[in-house]
Amino acid sequence: MALQASFLPSALSVHKEGKSSSGVKDTAFLGISLSDHHKSDFSSASLRTKQRSFEQKKLSITRAQTTAVASPSINRATSEGKKTLRKGTVVITGASSGLGLATAKALADTGKWHIVMACRDFLKAERAAKSVGMAKDSYTVMHLDLASLDSVRQFVHNFRRSDMPLDVLVCNAAVYFPTAREPTFTADGFELSVGTNHLGHFLLARLLLDDLNKSDYPSKRLVIVGSITGNTNTLAGNVPPKANLGDLRGLAGGLTGLNSSAMIDGKDFDGAKAYKDSKVCNMLMMQEFHRRYHEETGISFTSLYPGCIATTGLFREHIPLFRLLFPPFQKFVTKGFVSEAESGKRLAQVVSDPSLTKSGVYWSWNKDSASFENQLSEEASDAEKARKVWEISEKLVGLA
Ligand SMILES: NC(=O)c1ccc[n+]([C@@H]2O[C@H](COP(=O)([O-])OP(=O)(O)OC[C@H]3O[C@@H](n4cnc5c(N)ncnc54)[C@H](OP(=O)(O)O)[C@@H]3O)[C@@H](O)[C@H]2O)c1
Repeated sequence: MALQASFLPSALSVHKEGKSSSGVKDTAFLGISLSDHHKSDFSSASLRTKQRSFEQKKLSITRAQTTAVASPSINRATSEGKKTLRKGTVVITGASSGLGLATAKALADTGKWHIVMACRDFLKAERAAKSVGMAKDSYTVMHLDLASLDSVRQFVHNFRRSDMPLDVLVCNAAVYFPTAREPTFTADGFELSVGTNHLGHFLLARLLLDDLNKSDYPSKRLVIVGSITGNTNTLAGNVPPKANLGDLRGLAGGLTGLNSSAMIDGKDFDGAKAYKDSKVCNMLMMQEFHRRYHEETGISFTSLYPGCIATTGLFREHIPLFRLLFPPFQKFVTKGFVSEAESGKRLAQVVSDPSLTKSGVYWSWNKDSASFENQLSEEASDAEKARKVWEISEKLVGLA
C-alpha cells in the first residue's frame, strides 16, 4: 500500500521570529506512520486466551456482585431472574467536542455505557450531548478544569460522592497553541499545554487509580490519548518543531517561565512543540502506569493515535487559512482525514472492545480502519525517561 504521509504547502506554516523553521513547520497532524500500512493486529493469541479466561473469571465475580453496586445504570435482573451485566461507567475528559464527544456518542448509542462527561464548560457539554442526540440518561456532566490541580481534586471528590463505579477512564482533553509567541499558564503556574494535557491528567489518573481498581467490571481500562505528532519515527512526527523532552530540566524547574523555562527541555518557548512534548508525556505515562500497576491490578493501560481529525476544535488557535485548508488538504491530498464520527468509533473500541484489552499498547488504525499495535518512537518508549517524568510530575502535582 502506498505511503500517504505528506505535508501542507509552506504557505500554511507559521514561522516564528528568531527560530529556525522549515517550510512545513506546524503542520504535523497529517502523516501516517511509515509502518502503519504494513502492519496488522498481531496481539498474541496466547495472551488473548489468558485474557479471556481472566475475564471469564472476573465476569462471574461481577455477576455475583451486581446487586451490591449502587449505580442508576445497573441492570439487575431479566424477567427470567437471570442477572445481566450492568452498564459500564466511563469518565471521558474533554467530552464537550471533537474526539471526546464523538466517543461519548458512540458509547451512549450502544446502550451499554454511562458516560461521565468531565468538562470545563458545563453548559457547552450539556448542549453538545443534546446536539448529537445522546439519550438524557446516558450521560452525566461533571465539572473538571485540568488547568487547575484544585479542580482535578474537586472532580475526584464529586465523582466519588456520586457513588458511580469507575470502569474506564479516558484522558482525552487537550489544548494546542501553535501560533503562541509567549507561554500562558495554568492556575498552578505550569505552562498551559503540558500543564493541561499531561500534569492535569497525570494527577487525575493517579487519584482515580484506586477507584478503577475497585471496579468489578470485566475489563477495566485507563486510556490516555496520544498522537502521531509526538512520535519521531513517523513522517508527521518529523515536521518541525519535533517533540523532544531533552534532559527534562524545564519540567524539573516547574515549567514556570520565571527562573526556569516553560518548556520541558529547558529551551525557548514554542507552542507547537509544547503540545507535542505533552503528547510524548501522555504516551510515556501510559507505559509507566502499565509497568507499575498492570500486573497488580489487571487494569489495561493503553494509548492511541485516532487519526487526523482535521475538523476538531484542537485547531481553534491556528491561523484562519490553516483552519480553512487543513481539512480539504487531509481529505484530498494526504487522504489521511478521519471524520469525528470515525475517530469516536476508534476510541470507543479502545474503551470497550473485548479484543483490545492488551495493556501497554499504543493503538492505531490502517486505511481499512482495522486496529493494530503501533510502534512508539525511541523517546516515547524510553522507560528511563518515563520513570523520570513520572517522578518529577509526582512532585509537581503534590503527590510526592
Ligand atoms: N484532532 C486531531 O487530529 C488529533 C490527532 C491526534 C490526537 N488528537 C488528540 O485527541 C484529543 C481530543 O482532541 P480533539 O481533536 O477532539 O480537540 P477538541 O475538539 O478541541 O477537544 C478538546 C477537548 O478538551 C477540552 N479541554 C481543553 N482544556 C481543558 C481543560 N483545562 N479542562 C478540561 N477540558 C479541557 C475541550 O473543552 P472545551 O470544549 O471547553 O474547549 C474539549 O472538550 C486530544 O488529546 C488530542 O491531542 C487529536
